[in-house]
Amino acid sequence: MCGIVAAVISSGDIRAEVLAGLKTLEYRGYDSAGMAVLHQGEISVRRKMGKIANLEAELDRNELPPSGLVIAHTRWATHGAPADRNAHPHRDDKERIVVVHNGIIENFLELRQRLADAGHEFSTETDTEVLANLIASHRNTGLELHAAVRAALKEVHGAYGLVVMSADDPEQLIVARMDSPLVIGLGDHGNYAASDMPALLHLTRDFLILENGESAMLRADSMEVLSAAGKPIQPKTLHCDWTPEQAERGGYPHFMLKEIHEQPDVLARTAFDRCVDKDGDVDFEEEFGLTDAELAGFERLRFMAMGTSLHAAMLGQKFLAELARLPGETLNASEFLYSAPLEEGNALTVVVSQSGETADSLRAMREVQRRGGRVLGICNVQGSTLAREADHLILTHCGPEIGVASTKAFFGQVTALYLLAIRLGRARGVLNANQGREYLHDLRNLRHHFEALFRQESLDEIKQAADFLTGVRSCLFLGRGLQHPVALEGALKLKEISYLHAEGYPAGEMKHGPIALIDEHFPVIALSVKDRTYEKMLSNLEEVRARGGKVIAIANQGDERVAATADYVISVPEVPELLSPLVTVVPLQLLSYEVALGLGRDIDQPRNLAKSVTVE
Ligand code: G6P
Repeated sequence: MCGIVAAVISSGDIRAEVLAGLKTLEYRGYDSAGMAVLHQGEISVRRKMGKIANLEAELDRNELPPSGLVIAHTRWATHGAPADRNAHPHRDDKERIVVVHNGIIENFLELRQRLADAGHEFSTETDTEVLANLIASHRNTGLELHAAVRAALKEVHGAYGLVVMSADDPEQLIVARMDSPLVIGLGDHGNYAASDMPALLHLTRDFLILENGESAMLRADSMEVLSAAGKPIQPKTLHCDWTPEQAERGGYPHFMLKEIHEQPDVLARTAFDRCVDKDGDVDFEEEFGLTDAELAGFERLRFMAMGTSLHAAMLGQKFLAELARLPGETLNASEFLYSAPLEEGNALTVVVSQSGETADSLRAMREVQRRGGRVLGICNVQGSTLAREADHLILTHCGPEIGVASTKAFFGQVTALYLLAIRLGRARGVLNANQGREYLHDLRNLRHHFEALFRQESLDEIKQAADFLTGVRSCLFLGRGLQHPVALEGALKLKEISYLHAEGYPAGEMKHGPIALIDEHFPVIALSVKDRTYEKMLSNLEEVRARGGKVIAIANQGDERVAATADYVISVPEVPELLSPLVTVVPLQLLSYEVALGLGRDIDQPRNLAKSVTVE
């Protein structure tokens, strides 16, 4: 939520590189954007409401002077409506301190009042302007900039990832974090900071990750990092395995489409490049850190996540029951916080998150740990908060996901959860070595089926169904068993990027309410592949048709029975039942993409959404 990029270099001009980095972060927020530079002892700022393109146009009209000290921000509004004046960076009233900030300062009103009483003037409604004035007030007492920032942050309650620049300290930037991600990039000619690694991949792949309470003073050729207690520290460096090309569109019109098409590669990267040992058993990377004896000791698994990751988690629970005979539950992470604090017992909690920064998921993780439970994180971002704080970790290695609507990350999560279920099944003696290998073989084989999913005939079927959906206002996604989470995911994808109203339901629930909505304008998208739910799904399709409802069915190639009942059929290859969600979800992703395209929506940056929701 909101993106930060900043740079301090030894000589020359770094504005263009910072702007390029900011563009890779636009998925984090896109209500407004801004940039500040220091030039000859003066701070200059440009800010513009709307997307970064608006800021670029403003910078063309009203150029900033060249500078080697630059900070920039793209915003997702929390305090104050999207507007030029509320866009970051924010200055103090004397224009000596300038700040970009992600997060929320909860006591900003109280601080603002105190600063106003002391004579500070405010021109925006934001908490960040309060922060700039608060830092200035400490700097004015004679403290050095780093000390002034730390003194200010001591008075602040809330979350922040921030970068501070001062007109009186021309060669340095101060960065700090609390519950909002911030990474430091280490370059040959300078140092950088950003809220997310993709923003700096064109400048460096070597990073330091700040922990909560830590802060740093960055100069072009040196830095001072202080612990939460204010002691100098040497944080560990991390070499990011993402490439700058992975954060680009690579010829596709949208990141979402590129990421949908990357899913066969995700299968290889998540499953086979790293996680499978030579005997065919599942062997995760070192960070997993759970022995078979420990795995066999768990009596229950709990899955927690938000959004698309929650749907992956639901599938994880089903895989665990099938392959390891282990009971489990799946909870919305934000709801867990309000549940009665029962004994953790011998449970393992699996927190699933693409970004590893979702505030609700992180809070749930910490609450489990506080209650004495253990957490396994399943995450796509190396060095993210979940990756660092979970007791155990599986990285999904999907590469950067930029499209706001998650696709390949879901695919990587489901794949990782399937592998986890095999490993648990083996550890608990539910699966023997041969059975384990067979399940792995099924996964490996899936790759061959992807060609069919992206064939022109399939794309044509999807387009026809999408054309029809662009004319409706609302629809229902139905699935049973393993296809229920896929139905939820299909509905979520459609509403996220097309703004059509869509609900996902377990098909058995249809007769308990949603059926009242069905008429010729209210279609049903039915996941009706040949699995143990097939006959029941066919009956549901008949019930919809009997009420004049239109049916779009996701069915196995050549299924005549479904074809006879449905108005539109989207064919998918027949694969082993447990893996069919990985196959049926793909046409649903493409379907929502095509509907959104047909309706002229902003696919990679849908309105009101943010890629990573770092506030509760
Ligand atoms: C936001 C995104 C979703 C994502 C959810 C959870 O709502 O728009 O695409 O599924 O957050 O994010 P996470 O990074 O925890 O998977």
